[in-house]
Amino acid sequence: MIQLHDLFFEKFISESEINQAVNGVVVQINDDYKKKSPVFLIVLNGAFFFASDIIQRFEGNCEMSFIKVASYEGTQSTGEISTVMGVEPSLKGRDVIIIEDIVDSGNTIEAIIEILKQEEVHSFRIATMFYKPKAYTKDYKVDYIGMDIANDFIVGYGLDYNGLGRNLNEIYRLKQRKMKNIVLFGPPGAGKGTQADVLKEKYNLLHISTGDVFRYNIKNETELGMLAKSFMDNGDLVPDEVTIDMLKAEVEKNSEANGFIFDGFPRTNSQAKALDAFLSEKGEGINGMVALEVAEDLLVARLLKRGETSGRSDDQDESKIRNRFNEYETKTAVLKDYYAAQNKYFGVDGVGSIEEITERLCVVFDKL
Ligand code: IMP
Ligand code: MG
Repeated sequence: MIQLHDLFFEKFISESEINQAVNGVVVQINDDYKKKSPVFLIVLNGAFFFASDIIQRFEGNCEMSFIKVASYEGTQSTGEISTVMGVEPSLKGRDVIIIEDIVDSGNTIEAIIEILKQEEVHSFRIATMFYKPKAYTKDYKVDYIGMDIANDFIVGYGLDYNGLGRNLNEIYRLKQRKMKNIVLFGPPGAGKGTQADVLKEKYNLLHISTGDVFRYNIKNETELGMLAKSFMDNGDLVPDEVTIDMLKAEVEKNSEANGFIFDGFPRTNSQAKALDAFLSEKGEGINGMVALEVAEDLLVARLLKRGETSGRSDDQDESKIRNRFNEYETKTAVLKDYYAAQNKYFGVDGVGSIEEITERLCVVFDKL
């Protein structure tokens, strides 16, 4: 398995299978064009390798031309094609073989064919290394096909994911992540526990509260629990590695889960990195950080009110409450930056009834 940017890919098509497929195309093109002096029109950037392999084995005279169009962003086609670099010199009256790396929706091919018609070429045919028959929406015949593939996203042999992966000699396929892993945040009094209970049921996730995990390990005197306790007894902070190891054990114990709601962890940048590293070993990752957002004054009022009836001393002193809130804000700010940099921060308005807030959280959870 390999990682490109934030995604994981697994081996899919070997070098020798690629070679065989290329040979199949070369034989046909040699048959059809040996006496015609065609122009190979190479669609940049992805078709560069395929084109090179074909043209080197072409047995007649030929010329090359390049065109560059753009339609893909990340792993999705935008549906809109823009010409980045057009054909030069003119292809008027020529027999053109379009060389593509992959034909997916066919939007790119269609745009290029439009250009060729305007150029008044004598004839054109399409050669592509890969073809996704289930994604193709056009009527043009794709004349030469190296290999049919399903609607997977692939990289290698010229194909890229946001610029990376082109230089791989084999084809790798995007590994679909199975888990929904969410880091849940909420200031004291925002009702995070209540929401986590509802969400874990609805999405069949496991709620991992770091506090509970600590208490469980210490109570049951597990090796890690005893280790953690030795630090606590000395008045020291439990080192990140110990906490991470406890969470790992918790995740491993439940490896069949649909995913996890992490609660109370990570709290620092280095913890967030450690969590990413651990999950990526499993080909998984954090889908998003979801934070309940509530204005400080509102929370203070809410907690003071709770203090009146619950008698909890930490809910009766306004300055203590503000202190807890500030501590929360400071810690979250760091993580907000960390996850926002990966477009994974989702703030949710935490003011309203429990049901209203659940509904807002579900909108975010659904798309993660
Ligand atoms: P179409 O316009 O939808 O047919 O897409 C063709 C272009 O999209 C290709 O030239 C590639 O640049 C890109 N593309 C489509 N599918 C993949 C894929 O699985 N991996 C990498 N790029 C792809
Ligand atoms: Mg391309």
